[in-house]
Amino acid sequence: LLPVLTDPHGRRIRKLRVQLTDVCNFRCTYCMPLSVRFQPSATLVPPDELVAMVAGLVGEGVTQVRLTGGEPFSRREFQEIAEGVGALPLQKYGLTTNGHRLAEHLPLLDAVGCRHVNVSLDSLRAERFEAITRTPFFDRVVGALLEAKAAGFPVKVNCVLIRGANDDEVEDFLAFSARHGIPVRFLEYMKIGPQRGEHDRLFVSAGEIIDRLRQRHALVPVGAEPDATAFSFRTDDGAEVGFIASESRPFCATCSRLRLTARGHLRACLMSEDGRDLRGVPPEHYAAVLTDVMAMKPTGRIEEIAQPMHEIGG
Ligand code: GTP
Ligand code: 5AD
Ligand code: SF4
Repeated sequence: LLPVLTDPHGRRIRKLRVQLTDVCNFRCTYCMPLSVRFQPSATLVPPDELVAMVAGLVGEGVTQVRLTGGEPFSRREFQEIAEGVGALPLQKYGLTTNGHRLAEHLPLLDAVGCRHVNVSLDSLRAERFEAITRTPFFDRVVGALLEAKAAGFPVKVNCVLIRGANDDEVEDFLAFSARHGIPVRFLEYMKIGPQRGEHDRLFVSAGEIIDRLRQRHALVPVGAEPDATAFSFRTDDGAEVGFIASESRPFCATCSRLRLTARGHLRACLMSEDGRDLRGVPPEHYAAVLTDVMAMKPTGRIEEIAQPMHEIGG
C-alpha cells in the first residue's frame, strides 16, 4: 500500500507537475516577450535523474503526474522521460502542451499511458491565434487536438481569457466543445511574469463569462474531483465548459499539487519560489524534504509573482 501525503493543513498531496524544460517554441503574448532568454540547458536535470526524482516522490505518495514546460515536447529527451515516468505506478498521467508537436507524439503518449492531454488554444480564429501565440500554427494545433480526440485521448482545451482579444469567442468555444466532445476550460489571466503589468487591463473574470452564458444557456454543474483546478458545467447542447478562476475563486484550500522544476527544485506552489532542491538528495531523505516543502505551501492566494510562467511550469 502506498503512503498518503498530507500537509499541515490537512490537504492531501497527490499531484506532481513536472516541468521538463522552460523552453517553448511559441511566444504567447501573456506568457513571454519575443526576446525571451531561456535558462542554459546544461543546468537541466538529466532524464535518468529526473525520472528517479519522480519515482522517489511517487514512492512517498504522489499518484498523479502531469508533464509541463515551457513546452514539454521542446525537451530533447522527451521520450526517455515520458517512458520513465510512464513505468511508475500512477493513477493519472498527463501533459499540458501548446499542441504544435502533439500529433507526431500520439503513438508514444499512448504507449506510455500519458493520456490526459490538455492543449492551450486561446482563439478559434486563425489570425487571432497567430497574433496571440506569434506563430502560424493554428491549423496544425487544432488538427492535432482533433486527432488526439479521435484516437481516444481525454483531451481538454485551455483558453486564457484576454479582454479584447478573445472574450467575444466564448460562444464559439462552446459550439466547438459540443461539436467535438472536447471540454473547454477558460482560465483567468494570472499576474505572473514580465507580462503581469498588463493584467488589470486584460483580465476577465469567470463570473462575467458565466453571467453572460446564463442568459443563453442552462448551465448544469458537472461533478469534479475535490482537488480539481476547474469547476465545470454542461450545456443543453452538449458543451462542457469549465473555469479555472485562480483570481476570483482561488482553490488553494483544496490544492493537492507540488511542482518539480526541470532544474530539480521541488516547489510548494505555482505562485511562490519556496521549495527545496532535490538534486543530490538520497531517496531515504525524500520523506523529510517533502515534510519541509508541504509546510511551505501557502494556505491562501498569493496575488502575483515576477518569475515567468514558463520558468515555473504552468
Ligand atoms: P487536470 O485537472 O488534470 O486536467 O489538469 P490541470 O488543470 O491541473 O492542469 P493544466 O496544466 O491544464 O492547468 C490549467 C491551468 O491551471 C494552468 O493555467 C495552470 O497554471 C493552472 N494551475 C495548475 N496548478 C495550479 C496551482 O497550483 N495554482 C494555481 N493558481 N493555478 C494552477
Ligand atoms: N495566466 C493564466 N494562464 C496562463 N498560462 C500561461 N500564462 C498564464 C497567465 N499569465 C496558461 C497557458 C497554459 C497553462 C499551462 O497556463 O496558456 O494553458
Ligand atoms: Fe509557450 Fe505555453 Fe507560454 Fe504559450 S503559454 S509561450 S505555449 S509556455
